[in-house]
Formats: sequence, structure tokens, C-alpha cells
Amino acid sequence: MAQTPQAKYRKDYKAPSHLISDIELTFDLHDTATTVTAVSQVKQQGETATLTLDGEGLELKALQVNGTDWQDYTLLEAGIEIRALPEVFELTIITLINPEANTALEGLYKSGGAFCTQCEAEGFRRITYYLDRPDVLAKYTTTVIADKAQYPFLLSNGNKVEQGEAEQGRHWVKWQDPHPKPAYLFALVAGDFDVLRDKFVTQSGRNVDLEIFVDKGNLDRAHHAMASLINAMKWDETRFDLEYDLDIYMVVAVDFFNMGAMENKGLNIFNSKYVLANDQTATDTDYLGIEAVIGHEYFHNWTGNRVTCRDWFQLSLKEGLTVFRDQEFSSDLGSRAVNRINNVRIIRGPQFAEDASPMSHPIRPDKVIEMNNFYTLTVYEKGSEVIRMMHTLLGEAGFQKGMKLYFERHDGTAATCEDFVSAMEDASGVSLKQFRLWYSQSGTPTVKVSSEYDANAQTYALTIAQHTEPTHEQKEKQPLHIPFDVELYSKKGDVIPLQCHGKPVANVLNVTEATQTFVFENVVEQPIPSLLREFSAPVKLEYNYSDEELTFLMVHATNEFARWDAGQMLLAKYIRANVENVQQGKQVALSEAVVDAFRGVLLSDVLEPAFVAEMLSLPSHNEVSGWYKRVDVDAIAQVLKAIKVILATELQDELSATYHTLKQADYTIEHAAIGRRALRNTCLAYLAYTAQGNALVNAQYTQANNMTDTIAAMSAANSAGLACREALMADYSDKWKHDGLVMDKWFALQGCNPADNALDVIKQTMNHEAFSLKNPNRTRSLIGSFLSANPVRFHAKSGEGYRFAGEILREMNSSNPQVASRLIDPLLKFRLYDDERQAMIKAELEGLKAMDNLARDLFEKVNKALEN
Ligand code: TRP
Ligand code: ZN
Repeated sequence: MAQTPQAKYRKDYKAPSHLISDIELTFDLHDTATTVTAVSQVKQQGETATLTLDGEGLELKALQVNGTDWQDYTLLEAGIEIRALPEVFELTIITLINPEANTALEGLYKSGGAFCTQCEAEGFRRITYYLDRPDVLAKYTTTVIADKAQYPFLLSNGNKVEQGEAEQGRHWVKWQDPHPKPAYLFALVAGDFDVLRDKFVTQSGRNVDLEIFVDKGNLDRAHHAMASLINAMKWDETRFDLEYDLDIYMVVAVDFFNMGAMENKGLNIFNSKYVLANDQTATDTDYLGIEAVIGHEYFHNWTGNRVTCRDWFQLSLKEGLTVFRDQEFSSDLGSRAVNRINNVRIIRGPQFAEDASPMSHPIRPDKVIEMNNFYTLTVYEKGSEVIRMMHTLLGEAGFQKGMKLYFERHDGTAATCEDFVSAMEDASGVSLKQFRLWYSQSGTPTVKVSSEYDANAQTYALTIAQHTEPTHEQKEKQPLHIPFDVELYSKKGDVIPLQCHGKPVANVLNVTEATQTFVFENVVEQPIPSLLREFSAPVKLEYNYSDEELTFLMVHATNEFARWDAGQMLLAKYIRANVENVQQGKQVALSEAVVDAFRGVLLSDVLEPAFVAEMLSLPSHNEVSGWYKRVDVDAIAQVLKAIKVILATELQDELSATYHTLKQADYTIEHAAIGRRALRNTCLAYLAYTAQGNALVNAQYTQANNMTDTIAAMSAANSAGLACREALMADYSDKWKHDGLVMDKWFALQGCNPADNALDVIKQTMNHEAFSLKNPNRTRSLIGSFLSANPVRFHAKSGEGYRFAGEILREMNSSNPQVASRLIDPLLKFRLYDDERQAMIKAELEGLKAMDNLARDLFEKVNKALEN
């Protein structure tokens, strides 16, 4: 490593020394040598006449101030220092870059045959020297010049203002974006595409052209993205009173992309995974993912672009809020309960795990070495839970008043999380003083509840105690303001009105102290409490429920989420007990009552199929692992599988009947149809563990008229290790080997193959014609799923899984550190495993640490993990 990477601290924020009001960019595009001319209007803000610009991997060709060459500068490791500048000046910088050699996919790079950019968080500095920080907002004018035959479409932010022909078969287009923006929202695309066009008229009558650019031949896969975009635009007007502010909205799908998608002003760039879909290539999950991500990026136009972040420590200002908005969008369009369940699964599984890992951080981090490492589940998903808690505390009307005030105060500027909370507080009159701790405190609080019924006094007392364990980077913890949603039921299932001190009280209790008791009056019988309804705060709940109470809540809770959660708590009790059984060499067992409770769910004629499917789904191996300080990988896997086998065997008739009844002749992506397929395929996943499994799965694969059913069959065959697995995998690969995106589902199944020889097969699969370590989607599908979703094979006692991970990481460290840094996460948690495994994982981390070209991304994580 050239220099030890330095950390930045939130507390060190300083306003920029200079502002840039306008920038005129010209790109002369060539594969290996692109010339970038940047002409900026700069004005000194503070004391200093020295301007330090960020820049990485650039070749400086010219530097001028007010049109004349400037000599008073020094090139730095990662930038340039320009001295003795006038107070107001025009700065011209010409740089040369090599897009073709850019495998990190940050800055300007080539994806397939097209040029594209990714500037968030700090990619613009790989294009030109600049004040690459989100609080410097400028108006952009961009001219793109390229070969006309190869790159008929030349795109950038804002409106197209001019175009023309150039020499040697080249042409140019000039774009102007009237909205000042930080550099991270800049985008450029040049390529040849098919375009799907539509129109949207905003509520105030603005005509907006909608354009989705996809690889040639893929037009028939762009319709769902377009429909989702129109739905998102309508929804943001209806629910948030926010409308679009340019005449054109473009979305470009590219195959090489480090993340999901990017909200560049007027020109979103998407991972093609979140655009392309038709019923032969995409599953229902893919369709819903597209809707969510298209929504997410569109919603950023207000929460992210119109109001952006002052500095990157404030990332959750835009991401937590925008995730909240996309979750609400999906919930308003589809099933609220199913959406909530899936969001909560992410928090309880991977987010809680992140909170407990060496990388734990508050939703607003205090210390960062590589910003790309902080696009995390904590900032995004827990960040959204924090917004959701404010929504719970303020109610929809109060929350919307807060949003309005937030935009009144901060539109067109770079704001902080504190600005957002203040707006919410001022607009609603609700104090969020203690609530602000959610922004600064990391870790997952445990909330322990105990109850006492006094039959004589007819009172029911809930004592709620909260405790947050120290995290890696923060030892001291304080009590948080936790909105704690409860309901009480009589034995008959009636709701008992909540009353304290002679007055009715709301369901949401304000828990603010380490220990607090709430006494409810007029409770005429021992009630059954439904606790933390809707997962009203991102905490771990502990309450000593009996099996009877949980099976009661599975049926009688008024709220679907609470019914699902009761089922999960019941399963959790048995999973924990059975892990102990297995460790003591005993059998896995479920009580008759538990089996009957799930039978009741399956037979219900009032529940939505989509919801039943969720009720029947066990917590994942990763979620269960999070319950332990020392994880017994094999015991957990054994128990989860045994419980599936027991339920499949005991409920075989009901599963079979449901499976056959839910067959649909035609494929539609209506929510009800998706729900029926989800339940049918959940049944199939269980039935795979019975004697009829192989025949059923094989038949479904053969008869499937859509990708959802195809993948469900393959996935069932894979998990249960059915005889037909190899034949189905071979057939699918023959059919789709030319299409990387479709093959990703196949690669993911290879990655999480539970068979003994999985790793050998994975190594062979890396030679598959559709595979390439250069493509992040392929890598995540095959390698990512092996590391994060194949616990038994990855943690094989031989250590072969760890050595394989080490090899891949050493390679990816050079080619694409951002992707490498996501792959490494499972290794950071090595302290959760037994001594032998710990030693083997640690050896791989030490090996990485010793590399002389270790990227900042991996440097930060490896060092944190190895610290004590
Ligand atoms: N802002 C993007 C989003 O929320 C995230 C993103 C896309 C990103 N590409 C990235 C973040 C590259 C860091 C690096 O959807
Ligand atoms: Zn986002």
C-alpha cells in the first residue's frame, strides 16, 4: 500500500473553501483515452486562496486560470493543490482517463459496448479534479462527443439543448441540467440501445418524456420497469404531494454495475437486473424488486437530489428516508403485511448481524475510511426503521407536515440528519430529543418484557426493560426512545381497551427509560399481550410466551404481522430447544400443537395465500445464527432441515391439496396471482422432502410456463438434494447459457448447493461460458451465495471454503475492491465460530492484511475485524 489509508471523522466537518456555481464538461470519448475538459466558475468562500481538489487515477493535461496556464500547483496522492488563486475565477482542467481499463466500475467505465458512469460516492474524482463532496452544488452543462455508428445515443443529466456532427464519423450532444447538484449525481452514457418510450403528465400539467434504454433485443423486457416508473410518479404525487421537475426522465440498464441502481438527476443508471423482466426470464421476486428499485431511485429525486446530504456521514438522510418511501410504495401497491414481513426479516437477519459485527456503526456513522463501505443494511434498512418510528410517533398527518417543512427549509441545499429531525419536531410539536440517539448509537437493543396480572385490582402491568450491549466501536450505551406497540386480548379473542390512570391510552407506548412499568386498568381477566406489533422498533424482543399464547396469537391477533410474528416466535422456541437436543445427541421433535397450528394456517379459508406462504416459512439459517454468541453451524442446519421434514411429513395431505388447488393456467403478475404462486411453491418446497417430492418437482419444472415456477422447482430440488437436480440444472443451462442475467439464478443455486461436493462444482462452474469474475452480478450469484447462503459448505471443517474465499478476495481486491468488500462480510464474523474455524478464517484475513496493494475498502474491514 502506498500510504496507510486515513480515517475521516464526522466531527471534523468544515465548509468548503470554495464554491463552484457552474461547470461545463466536454467528454471526447475513446475506449482507452478519453479527454475530459472541465471549465468551472469558482468563488473563494473562506480565508484561503489555495484550492485543493480531489482526483484519482487522472493524467493532467492542462490547468488554466481565467484562460491562462497556471503553474502554481502540486499534484498530491489523491488530488491537486492549486495556490495563489484570485477570489473569483474560471478554472479549466483537462484530464485523460482510460475507461476500458476501469474494472472497479467507479467513474467512467465501459459496460459491454457502452460508456457509463458511477459517481456516488466518490467516483467523480476519477473523471476530473474537482471538489468531490456533496455540499458543493453546481449547474452542469455537458457535451459528449463520440463515434456516431457505435454510440448513436449520447446522454447526460437534464435537457438536451444542442447536437451536431463532428469529423471522422463522430457526433456530439450537449445537455444542460438547470438544477444545481453535487458531483455524485453527475451521469453520462454513450451507446447503442433499444428505447422504450412513454409519457407522464404531472399533477400540475408538466409533460414528461419517459425513456428506458436497454441492450438491443431487450425491448420486450422493459415494460414492467416503465409501468413501475409511472406508478412511482403517481404515487409520489398522491401520498407525498411531490412531482417531477424536468421534461425528461431517463433510465439506462447496464450489465456491469456494483450496486442496484443510481439516482443521477434525470438519468438513472440501473443494474440490468432491476430493469429487465418478462415472464420467461424473471421471477415474481424479480418483478417486485424492479418495482421497488425503480420506485427507490425515482423517490430520490426529492429525497436525495432536491435535498441532498451535507457530507457522507449524513447518508441515511437520503437513504433511510428513501428506503422508507419505497417500502411504503410497495406496501400501498401490494400486500402491506407481506412487505412488512420481508423488511423485518432483513432487519432481524443480516442487519442485526451487522450490528453485532466488527463493522457495527450507527445509522449516521462517526468514522469512515472508505465511504463505499457504509452503503450498509444499517444506513439503509435500519435507517428506514428510524424514519418509520418517527412516522409511528407523529402519525401520517404529522409526518407529512414534517416533510413539507423539511422541503420548505432545505430544498436546493445539502442538509443533515439533524435538519430532518428538527423539521419533523417543529412541524408536529412532538419532542424527538431522546429519539435522536437512534442516529448516534449503534447496536441492537434487547427489550425484555414481563407481565403481572392482579385479579383483585383488575390491573395488568407490563414491565419493559431495555438494554443495548456494547458494540465493536462504541462501549457506552444509553436508553433509547422506543415506540412500543401493544394490544391485549381476552381469552375469547376480544380486544381489551387500554386504559391508564383512568384514561384511554394509545397502543404505542413511549418507552424511554432503562426499566419502565405500564399499568393498565379495568382488565377483567388475565389477558394475552401482543407485543412490538408491526415491529414498531428495531429491537430484539424477549417475553416468556407459552406455546398456547403463541398459537392463540397466530389466530386471534388483529394484525396480520402480529400473527406471523407469533408463528415465528413459536418456531424460534422449538428451533432453540432442538439445537440443544442435537448438541446432546437427541432427536429433533416438534409438539403436536405446533404442527396443528401450522395445519390451521394452511387450511384457513380467510387468509391471503401470500400471507400463508410467509406464515409457513422458517427463519433463515443466518437469522437463527444471530441468536447465538457461539454458532453451531451444523446443528442449526440439521434442525432447520429436520423441522421441514417433520412439517412436510405431518402436513403432507394438506400441502398436497393446497399445491394442486392453487395451480394457475395463465401467468399474470397481479398481486393475487403472485400470492397463489408463492404459497403453491412454498408447499412444493416442503413436499420436496416427502416420497412424492422428486416426481412433483420434476413435473412442475417440465410444465412450468413461467420463470417463477421453473426456479421454484429447481430450488426445491437443490435444497432437498433430489435425484432430478442434475437433469434440471443441465436443461436450464442449455437453454439459457447465452444470457448472463438469467443464468444468475442458476449460478446462485450452484452457490448454495448443500451437496458435499458443492465447492468442486462451484470451481468448475467458474469456467462456465456465462461466468466472469469481472461481472459483479455473476460474482455475487455464484461466489456471494456460497459465502453468505451456504453455511454448511462454506464453513466445512476442512477449511476449503475459507481458502477459496481468500483466493477470490485477493483477486477481486485488485479488479473490483467495492465488490470484494461486500463479499468479505461473512469472514469478519469469525469470532462466532469454534476455535479451529476461527483460526482458519483469521489466517485468510491475515493473508489479506499482508498484501502490499490492499485496497482501502478491504483495509478498513480486515483491520477492524482483526482488532480486539
Ligand atoms: N444511491 C444508490 C441507491 O441508493 C446507491 C449506489 C448505487 C451506490 N451505486 C453505488 C453507492 C455505487 C455507492 C457506490 O440506490
Ligand atoms: Zn438510495
